[in-house]
Amino acid sequence: MAYKLLFVCLGNICRSPSAENIMNYLLKQQGLEHLIVCDSAGTSSYHVGASPDRRMRATAARRGIELLGSARQLDVSDFEKFDLILAMDRQNYQDILALDGQNRYRDKVRLICDFATQSPEKEVPDPYYGGQEGFERVIDLLLDACAGLLEEIMETEGVRE
Ligand code: 4NP
Repeated sequence: MAYKLLFVCLGNICRSPSAENIMNYLLKQQGLEHLIVCDSAGTSSYHVGASPDRRMRATAARRGIELLGSARQLDVSDFEKFDLILAMDRQNYQDILALDGQNRYRDKVRLICDFATQSPEKEVPDPYYGGQEGFERVIDLLLDACAGLLEEIMETEGVRE
């Protein structure tokens, strides 16, 4: 059975859809797309049903990455459905854990930047109210962190066909 990853941010229109599609891009590049399934969600309901942000899509497209999907809100049932839940920033991390009333799934929740090997940042900054450089930074950080995460999953989980 495939290993299941859920990427989570606030709105599910900028950072987490980028993470989901970047991971799918890396999996395809490495011929591993059958091993890991990716999804994304937001802690808020602000943009439910919306496509990824136009600025985020344009920035990803220039790197050859298409952002697919529509926003949904994180649900308590996601804790059972996914093997690992990746928060973009500390606030997302806290909001995810707050949904896990009995602290049963704490070990499944991590900060995505923990897997970065080229960047010192601990969080993926929210680009929504900022300029173009914020969107570029999201892509740079997530390319690094998703590559590190993929490597770690392949090492620790092995290949589950
Ligand atoms: P995201 O970015 O959490 O990376 O999708 C945001 C999108 C929308 C808002 C904030 C952040 N908002 O306040 O509407």
